[in-house]
Amino acid sequence: MSTQVTPKKKNRLATLAVRAGQPRKDALDAVTTPIACTATYAFGSSAELRDHFEGRITRHEYGRYGNPTVRAAEEKLAALDGGQDAALFGSGMAAITTALFALLQKGDHVVLTGDGYRRTRAFVTQVLARFGVESTIVGAGDARAIGEAIGDKTRIVLTESPTNPYLRVVDLAALLQAKRLHPRVKILIDATFATPVNQRPLEQGADLVLHSCTKYLGGHNDLLAGVVVGDGALVSLVREARDVLGGVLDPHAAYLLLRGLKTLPLRVERQNTTGLAIARWLEAQPEVERVYYPGLTSHPDHAVAVRSMTGFGGVVSFVLRADLDLTARALDACELATIAPSLGGVETLIEQPAIMSYYGLTSEERAALGIRDGLVRLAVGVEDADDIREDLERVLRVVSDDSNTKSKSSDTTKKAAREVVSHGN
Ligand SMILES: Cc1ncc(COP(=O)(O)O)c(C=O)c1O
Repeated sequence: MSTQVTPKKKNRLATLAVRAGQPRKDALDAVTTPIACTATYAFGSSAELRDHFEGRITRHEYGRYGNPTVRAAEEKLAALDGGQDAALFGSGMAAITTALFALLQKGDHVVLTGDGYRRTRAFVTQVLARFGVESTIVGAGDARAIGEAIGDKTRIVLTESPTNPYLRVVDLAALLQAKRLHPRVKILIDATFATPVNQRPLEQGADLVLHSCTKYLGGHNDLLAGVVVGDGALVSLVREARDVLGGVLDPHAAYLLLRGLKTLPLRVERQNTTGLAIARWLEAQPEVERVYYPGLTSHPDHAVAVRSMTGFGGVVSFVLRADLDLTARALDACELATIAPSLGGVETLIEQPAIMSYYGLTSEERAALGIRDGLVRLAVGVEDADDIREDLERVLRVVSDDSNTKSKSSDTTKKAAREVVSHGN
């Protein structure tokens, strides 16, 4: 079932987050959306079945083609991103892979930006390549290079914005300029790191927005989901591919997603404030070599971020003045932040990409992808910002203690050497 959603423009984001996709009073008189825990739907008669297939009535048929709880979440997500329609999936990767399978065919070309989720890159360069789809990878911050990579066979430009882990912000206006010369190209933005609170790619002219709802949209580290939002006809194509490929969302997870979405603006606004405060603080610490956060003037895309985002998010990446092992030891000092992959939930998570997402690669392979050994990705939750800062002080103390020990031991070595020299005299 694919009824199209008309976004309720008259309501603002915080209201849509709570109210969209949800009747004021449903058939059960419930205020919240019930979980429709069913794999299939009953037809009262064969005549009703015929009416359904011949389009005279709109109703659910079978669980892989739709579910009322999932549909309520889709309507809320479409309203939040200002899209005509949305299709939900069992994970962010299911959303990405299904959308690309739906929109591409043999002989097509995809432009993908670097510094992105490595499974998306693997899907494009390894899986789609087996089906005759070619790709070019260009730097996310280089709008000119993206434009130049678009050719006659290009059908999709897919980019994250902000990217992972260096939080590059794509200049969508420049991208749309390039698209004018190639009208068949569709611009797909994986806005997982931005959320509809901080960035509005559809309103700026993107064709489809994708999110891993596992992150900010669910917001509680308790579900996996993905969504494709945008133009009704395009989303219908993606939904038809979902009917075949089967990566649907379970109604229980849809319920958790609906509940999480109600507080999305509250949570993200808090994460924006904490993220900026922590990024500024980290930038002033001697143990930190570099901080990557689009809200800092030192970030290469700060100007683009200020133009195109209303907040800079809760992910702060930074490089410690430490090698692989010292960085790992330093993160072990966290008492509040949890060492875990993912981001966007209420719990602060911290990871060292070199031994998390990029585990198994050699130091050289990681370096080729720009992943430094001392790189840390912090995803702030909604705990008190001072507690998060104090936790990071524990991390930095391990680094400074180590360099003090090293400089003391090198002082002792120098002193011993001086003594040898003076004894020699
Ligand atoms: C930017 C981005 N897109 C997509 C995904 C995939 O989402 P999921 O883990 O929900 O499949 C991730 C996962 O980390 C991500 O960071």
